[in-house]
Amino acid sequence: MKFSATVTLILGICASIKAAKTRPNIVFIFTDDQDLRHGSLETQRAVQRHLAAKGTTFTNHYSTVAVCCPSRVSLMRGQAAHNTNNTAIRAPGGGYPKFVASAENENYLPHWLSKADYNAEYIGKLFNGNSLLNYSPGPLGWRHIDVLLEPYINTHNTVVMSENGARPKHYSGFQQTDVIRIKALERLRLLIDEENPFFLMISPTAPHVQNLYDPPAPPARYYGLFNDTTVPRTPNFNPPQKYQKGKPSWLRDLAPLNSTQIDEIDLLYQRRLESLRGVDDIVDDVVEMLEKRGIIDNTYIIYSTDQGYHLGTHRHSGKSLPYLEDSNIPLVVRGPGVPQGVISRTPSTVTDFAPTFLEIAGLAPELHPPFFDGASLLTAWKHPNTPALAKKKEAINVEYWGSAYTEIPTWSSGDYGVYFPGVYLDNDYKTMRVVGEKSSWMYSRWCTNDTELYNTTDDPYELKNLANLTDPHTRRVKSRLNALLMVTKSCTKSTCRDPWSIIQPPSPRHGKRVETLHDALDPHYDAFYEAFPLVTIDECMNYQFAANEGPFFPPSAQFELGLEYRNSTDNFAYATADPIETIAENSPLAGGWEQRQATYETLVKAARVLTDREINNPS
Ligand SMILES: *[C@@H]1O[C@H](CO)[C@@H](O)[C@H](O)[C@H]1NC(C)=O
Ligand SMILES: *[C@@H]1O[C@H](CO)[C@@H](O)[C@H](O)[C@H]1NC(C)=O
Ligand SMILES: *[C@@H]1O[C@H](CO)[C@@H](O)[C@H](O)[C@H]1NC(C)=O
Ligand SMILES: *[C@@H]1O[C@H](CO)[C@@H](O)[C@H](O)[C@H]1NC(C)=O
Ligand SMILES: *[C@@H]1O[C@H](CO)[C@@H](O)[C@H](O)[C@H]1NC(C)=O
Ligand SMILES: *[C@@H]1O[C@H](CO)[C@@H](O)[C@H](O)[C@H]1NC(C)=O
Ligand SMILES: *[C@@H]1O[C@H](CO)[C@@H](O)[C@H](O)[C@H]1NC(C)=O
Repeated sequence: MKFSATVTLILGICASIKAAKTRPNIVFIFTDDQDLRHGSLETQRAVQRHLAAKGTTFTNHYSTVAVCCPSRVSLMRGQAAHNTNNTAIRAPGGGYPKFVASAENENYLPHWLSKADYNAEYIGKLFNGNSLLNYSPGPLGWRHIDVLLEPYINTHNTVVMSENGARPKHYSGFQQTDVIRIKALERLRLLIDEENPFFLMISPTAPHVQNLYDPPAPPARYYGLFNDTTVPRTPNFNPPQKYQKGKPSWLRDLAPLNSTQIDEIDLLYQRRLESLRGVDDIVDDVVEMLEKRGIIDNTYIIYSTDQGYHLGTHRHSGKSLPYLEDSNIPLVVRGPGVPQGVISRTPSTVTDFAPTFLEIAGLAPELHPPFFDGASLLTAWKHPNTPALAKKKEAINVEYWGSAYTEIPTWSSGDYGVYFPGVYLDNDYKTMRVVGEKSSWMYSRWCTNDTELYNTTDDPYELKNLANLTDPHTRRVKSRLNALLMVTKSCTKSTCRDPWSIIQPPSPRHGKRVETLHDALDPHYDAFYEAFPLVTIDECMNYQFAANEGPFFPPSAQFELGLEYRNSTDNFAYATADPIETIAENSPLAGGWEQRQATYETLVKAARVLTDREINNPS
């Protein structure tokens, strides 16, 4: 009796260690504002060689809110931004302090990974608003977190970070992507030696602009490498008036870009590609270490970004727009069971990552949070060209509240409310994308009551706004997209994953339920879908306010918006870090070839803690 109990116990322990060791590790390399549509991913040799050739590239991956902090909070919670209510980079709409105040900080990805006995660690930029004022305690949930802090998150050549909530340190003489690479490799080395599987997220700010609209400072060794490259002159680059006049809101009134602005855009593109070479070094080094240590085949390496970016398209430069350049983003996945060298059109969004990671980690379903809007992609990653999976995910909700920022130094002001240069306020919209095999569409409703409709199969540059066409087929498409958007703009959980489920026409044809846009286009359903009211935003505001957002479907949705799963944060406000003394940039630019091989010990030696004057805000 005693003997067999001991044997069972020993076998039990062995089995659990084995289970821990065989579960795959995850390394998530996550950039900031990286475009897909302007071709940045193709210029990255390490991403192509180590990830795309050895894994699958997903060409229909989307950000559902085109600005950093909201998109990152969506990723970390597996929810649409209308449910996290983190909808801007600053108060009152969003930012890290709102994430903390809403108690979302106590219930997001690293907490769940820890429940699955994963060692979850983070290096780099997490959220805007994580600053010198609130570095301690650090963001919760991570076993180890080393975060970039405002006001230095976007200063690639002045690196200030806090390790697990400790007093911030400055890494003099180092470029940001190099610091993140060296630190991430040190953590990877330690993580590999441990028994538990690990999740390591590596988040440089590259290729984000510096300050408000200066190009990023790449590692010095890559500066000038792309001097001769210009932004691809696609048909929507600085388009003629006949297209621009069909655009909504403030965009309609933008003057054509002049040569000064076009030069600035090309220069920004060059520095962006060079700064991505620094990220390529991260990919090279991570893959090399995983290979050397013999665990590459049991590790998922995921490469993606928070949202996209546009350079000169629709006469503007920056993010925050509903067009493909800002929404459709890089996603490359390598790992156990993921086929090599494959391109997949299966759609997915940023909200799908958290459920995917929990499935990889094997966390028991009863321990998952009850509020996921996204769904695991693991099956799609392993079977990337399965039409049934693609069909299920064809409807993509994109949303935005608040200002659009122009990220080049010279802008044309337009006729709309500019309250400080380069910022356009009338930029709230709700967008439905259908990314189908047979047809694809984009439909948007704006706070200015403008409507957009593009046939993106025919017009991937989103130039020909069809919203005013009155022929039966266009009207039919528009009424279905409007009904679908009416649901997705406030969807939650299963209604996000299957929005058609609650807008079924009363009498199905041939006993078939509507599952796709194609099904819904049956003329038999015209009266039903045309009866839906228009999606409306009453006024342009810079945060989500339910009473401003027109009718809801179902009407009860206006009272949900994720409130059951977070604390209310009405009238949210916070201060921004404004130290008495700011730290100067490295001069000359850091990141020369000698730093390509710099060790962790050298980096630690270069670090010093910030002084009181460098930390304190005078107010
Ligand atoms: C969230 O609300 C609960 C219940 O009112 C409260 O106990 C908790 O302290 C709140 N959390 C935060 C971060 O304010
Ligand atoms: C690239 O252009 C910059 C600025 O225009 C210049 O300073 C630099 O020397 C050039 N680099 C190369 C490698 O041509
Ligand atoms: C559609 O019609 C409205 C109302 O006449 C007009 O304001 C708008 O500019 C038109 N949109 C396009 C894309 O032509
Ligand atoms: C382009 O327009 C900007 C803003 O109006 C102006 O400052 C700049 O001088 C113009 N450049 C040229 C070449 O006209
Ligand atoms: C908004 O636009 C729709 C057509 O797209 C029109 O029917 C409605 O009257 C407009 N509402 C306002 C307040 O202008
Ligand atoms: C959309 O574009 C595709 C591809 O050009 C075309 O076949 C289709 O007829 C278009 N649909 C409509 C409704 O115009
Ligand atoms: C979202 O945040 C804003 C700003 O704090 C607040 O006014 C609004 O009521 C919140 N909405 C929801 C649905 O929580």
